[in-house]
Amino acid sequence: MKNYHQLFNFASEAQNKAYAPYSHFKVGAAVESDNGQIFAGCNVENISYPCGTCAEAGAIAAMVCGGGTKIRRILVISDGATLITPCGACLQRILEFSLPETEILLADREGVKKTMSVNELLPNAFKEF
Ligand code: THU
Repeated sequence: MKNYHQLFNFASEAQNKAYAPYSHFKVGAAVESDNGQIFAGCNVENISYPCGTCAEAGAIAAMVCGGGTKIRRILVISDGATLITPCGACLQRILEFSLPETEILLADREGVKKTMSVNELLPNAFKEF
């Protein structure tokens, strides 16, 4: 697997800052954009549950605001017993900025455990109308 340590460190720091008082499930994400920069995000929950946002959404918003236009790689880190994959809504958000070669790296505190493509996780996606 390609060197992911910087991406992992950004995501890990973001995970530590997650605001998850309701689920107690902290998630961090880090995007490596086409302009070579890294942007991080964490989940931010709300007492009105549907207002909560995922780590991936935060990282993608930061990328767009920072001038990135495509996602080369996105790393997602969580603490569960099993590796998590981005939710359906976040897969659609990732797809919006993805390249054919975009990778989704799934990690726990120890490191990256699995790499998947957007198409594997969201086949037959809605991408044009
Ligand atoms: N969550 C993320 O931030 N990213 C994911 O890929 C899956 C779930 C958050 C949403 C909520 O704050 C908590 O994890 C539990 O679902």
